[in-house]
Amino acid sequence: MCGIVGYIGENRALPVLIEGLKRLEYRGYDSAGIAYLKDGKLEIKKCKGRLACLDPMVANETIDSHVGIGHTRWATHGEPNEINAHPHMSFQSKIAIIHNGIIENYMRLKDWLIEEEGVEFKSETDTEVIAHLIEYFYEGDLLDAVYKTIDKMEGAYALGVIAKDEPDKIIAVRKDSPLIVGLGKDGNYLASDIPALLQYTRNMYLIENDEVVVLTKDSITIYDELKRIVERDVFEVTWDIESAEKEGFEHFTIKEIFEQPKGIYETLNRRLEKTNTINLDGIKITKENLEKINKVYIVACGTAYHAGLIGKFAIEKFAKIPVTVDVASEFRYRDPFVDENTLFIAVSQSGETIDTLSALREAKRKGARILSIVNVVGSSVARDSDDVFYTWAGPEIGVASTKAYTTQLIAMYLIALQMAKTVGKIEEVYYQEIIEELKKLPEKVQQILDNEEQIKQLADTQFNNEHVFFIGRSVDYDTALEASLKLKEISYINSFAIQAGELKHGTIALVEKDTLVMTIATQSKLFGKVLSNIKEVKARGAHVVAIAQKSNQEILKVADEVIFIPDTMDEVAPILSIVPMQLFAYYVSLARGNDVDKPRNLAKSVTVE
Ligand code: M6R
Repeated sequence: MCGIVGYIGENRALPVLIEGLKRLEYRGYDSAGIAYLKDGKLEIKKCKGRLACLDPMVANETIDSHVGIGHTRWATHGEPNEINAHPHMSFQSKIAIIHNGIIENYMRLKDWLIEEEGVEFKSETDTEVIAHLIEYFYEGDLLDAVYKTIDKMEGAYALGVIAKDEPDKIIAVRKDSPLIVGLGKDGNYLASDIPALLQYTRNMYLIENDEVVVLTKDSITIYDELKRIVERDVFEVTWDIESAEKEGFEHFTIKEIFEQPKGIYETLNRRLEKTNTINLDGIKITKENLEKINKVYIVACGTAYHAGLIGKFAIEKFAKIPVTVDVASEFRYRDPFVDENTLFIAVSQSGETIDTLSALREAKRKGARILSIVNVVGSSVARDSDDVFYTWAGPEIGVASTKAYTTQLIAMYLIALQMAKTVGKIEEVYYQEIIEELKKLPEKVQQILDNEEQIKQLADTQFNNEHVFFIGRSVDYDTALEASLKLKEISYINSFAIQAGELKHGTIALVEKDTLVMTIATQSKLFGKVLSNIKEVKARGAHVVAIAQKSNQEILKVADEVIFIPDTMDEVAPILSIVPMQLFAYYVSLARGNDVDKPRNLAKSVTVE
């Protein structure tokens, strides 16, 4: 949540901050602000709303400042308004700060500052306390004051700090919230995420937890928690800025839906040998490791959790190893049965989701081996794992996760197949059949995308529904969960998923005339059962749209409308059946006039608990 950016160097700071924030806006967009040093004074400009609200404040001035920090906010403490927007200034206007994260003990610190020092707080944020504390501790050495401040703070934070009396530097701090630092030719940068800096530099330092960085216009010094200088290798970003641009599509979300054939192809091909063997180089799924393992946990949030559900299906089906899937925010507080014989699989697009990261650390503390499936190279989840399977979706900017999901599924299938082979639980012929089918998926996904018009028309007739049901059985239910999440998060329609066979145990009471029931029916052994479930809801007046494999033409007789996906093996159908549902959510959102890429109340990267 929240994006932070900073620049110090030869160039004017404001354009750099605004450009950087534009690329971070997906992290939060309810208010924005910048702070900079000019003529020996700290200036702040901030406003409620999208980043564009800053335009009138910075457009007509050629503000000659060469050091500044910027912020785009996803509100946690205090409503989105100008006062609560970052940056926040200290009581004597000597320090300005930006913050991404949550300070858990801020109430105690706030009370103390009010009672002991008479500090007057302006905002309702937890962040403001940090600015005041730094000024309180400041005795001519900003770095020292920052260390004293963070020593008092509990919680998660990435900070950018500038000071009136030390205009030659920015100090950045990281604890459990993402932070990178960029090395430029004409200055140095900080940001929450790589795309913010790509137009200026490809050379970055990935900052670790508890590190503090001092940026000047021509140096970057990283310190550890004991203030010792840390040597760090430069991380060179190899992907292009174009992959983080819209390239002619109206929204990132639709661009990313259309990038799925490529993402699937890349994720597969980097792990498949010509002989159809899976190459999990760098990931130790050895026979010896697997024989030790008596439990597999897959832990994740949101869409990544749904990928975990399909992962459970694949690992149990192919490798015959039982798997528990849990939502990361619940896992931690369950006192889960994790020990050195547990394989813990974390799934995360961003690799920065704090719930997933905290669950992973908890499992690690208890001795589990950690394998993660991550899209963002060098992210926190990746760095804290024993083994990493990188998906090759490319940067995902739209808040609704689409291409990350289908590539996570590919990763899950490859891991499951490799486990199965290693423990000798899969017949070679069957293994080869699955691999061959996986290889056909990019083309089959493309065929679904080519049928976009049918789904758009469906969305144009159904966008006014108040409620939508998604039903399915077995893996089709897992897909229903993801389809429902996709629809609700970008269309704001109240939708939910239920196992088709469970409907009759209560929920069917909600079905009335014209209720839209989206039915995923790709599994041949359950096909007859799902047809009966369709009849049950139709008998109550529902309008049924079914998603089925092309050869299952029988479904035309019972459903009102059918979206066919190409024929495939039932086992891998989830990778296809979600695609029309993503398109449906996108076009419904569009028809309702929503901001598809930046749905209300959400942020792309959820770095608060
Ligand atoms: O970056 P992560 O994969 O860890 O994010 C997890 C969820 O926050 C994310 O999948 C979220 O549910 C998406 N907005 C869904 O589209």
